[in-house]
Amino acid sequence: MPMILAANANAQGSHVGEWRHPDAWDRPAANIANAVRLAQIAEAGKMDLLFLADGNGVRQMDKPDLFAATSPSDRPGVFEPVTLLSALAMVTKHIGLVATTTTTYDQPFHVARRFASLDHLSGGRAGWNLVTTSNPGDALNFSHTEHVGRDDRYERANEFAEVVKGLWDSWADDAFPQDKTSGRFLNPERVRVLAHKGKHFQVAGPLNAPRPPQGHPVVFSAGQSEAGRELSARHADCIFAIEATLPAAQAMYADFKARLAKYGRGPDDLKILSGVTIIVGDTAQQAADIAAELDDLVPPAVGVDYLSKMVGRSMKSFPLDGPMPAFDEEHVGHTGIGRAIVKVAQQEGLTVRQTYRRILPQMAGNMFTGDAKQVADRMEEWYVGKGCDGFMVAAPVVPTGMERFTRLVIPELQRRGLFRRDYEGQTLRDNLGLRRPPDRF
Ligand SMILES: Cc1cc2nc3c(=O)[nH]c(=O)nc-3n(C[C@H](O)[C@H](O)[C@H](O)COP(=O)(O)O)c2cc1C
Repeated sequence: MPMILAANANAQGSHVGEWRHPDAWDRPAANIANAVRLAQIAEAGKMDLLFLADGNGVRQMDKPDLFAATSPSDRPGVFEPVTLLSALAMVTKHIGLVATTTTTYDQPFHVARRFASLDHLSGGRAGWNLVTTSNPGDALNFSHTEHVGRDDRYERANEFAEVVKGLWDSWADDAFPQDKTSGRFLNPERVRVLAHKGKHFQVAGPLNAPRPPQGHPVVFSAGQSEAGRELSARHADCIFAIEATLPAAQAMYADFKARLAKYGRGPDDLKILSGVTIIVGDTAQQAADIAAELDDLVPPAVGVDYLSKMVGRSMKSFPLDGPMPAFDEEHVGHTGIGRAIVKVAQQEGLTVRQTYRRILPQMAGNMFTGDAKQVADRMEEWYVGKGCDGFMVAAPVVPTGMERFTRLVIPELQRRGLFRRDYEGQTLRDNLGLRRPPDRF
């Protein structure tokens, strides 16, 4: 099984300063031409999929100083991701199309229908990244006065996923003969009424869409808490993880794979993609120069605001060159990312300035910098060492960063036999080495 390579396709890269870089796209807000170009770069590189993170609100509206530091990576001006991927499906042939949708502020029928449609119109390339929503302020756009608590979010998410999968299984694969001769449009014996009655949802079904080409579009998940990991073990086909070091990634990898048996699943049924920011140059020096240029595009005030945002509390009162304070869990925004940043700062004994510089390009996650051989060495080490089944690649400065990755690193991985030279399968599931769920008839 070759390494899986996903392209982080939010039309800006992953570095807070990067949109100001001379090579970065002009006017990145909701720009379809940019999105098409990025999709084509990733597909020409034979990458497995495009991945779009998402939320349902503009962040930091209650904190004017943090709001002023908004960068494109906060996504204040983006396309709704399934709408965008539907357009990209028409200008690509092979690459998978994965969009984030929340289980906390949406309905399972809508989500099942949207991703079934994307799967049909892309010929089996759709994926749903199931999240429970990281931005608390999104709640205010959905008739709530505050964010739903984590336990409730995950309880709802589990039932939500069950209903979505049930709806995808509404019809047998051959339920729509559409036979003009006999007059039979559908086969009335090949439909299943869901009749779901649970704590959070009552859904009659069936879905008003034929069974998706993949059976079930590929389900992604990213939660890192205990509840998040259990949800992934039960329902996800792929997870998006962020670990800063190989030992941490190996421990996470082993933990996820060990949880699967309980749900009657094998280790190959859940693929683990590790988020990584890759800065590759024709030479190691060029890569180092790009990294330094990017950091210099972030003035300290923006850096501190960004750090505040990531850990979920204001860092303005702490001296820039004093130690990064140790917060207890309840103060770090209640997210895996906030916790991971504080952990890394503690482990490495970083100051506030060093912490924001550390997380600028890659949040609290992993970064590989160097020439093609150096970057491929690190990717091979993580992949062969069971730190991951593949990578979610973010390239600072788009499009040049992703172009450089596909032009320099992918051929090196192919030479080593670690990555495909061409798409083998028809569907995203085929390319990821995931089984198609059989229909229930
Ligand atoms: C790598 C990664 C990517 C994520 N992407 C999103 C996203 O695009 N939208 C969102 O609302 N939440 C996102 N999340 C948040 C998680 O889905 C989850 O809701 C959050 O981390 C809180 O749950 P946890 O404590 O289980 O991690 C992401 C989390 C991680 C670790």
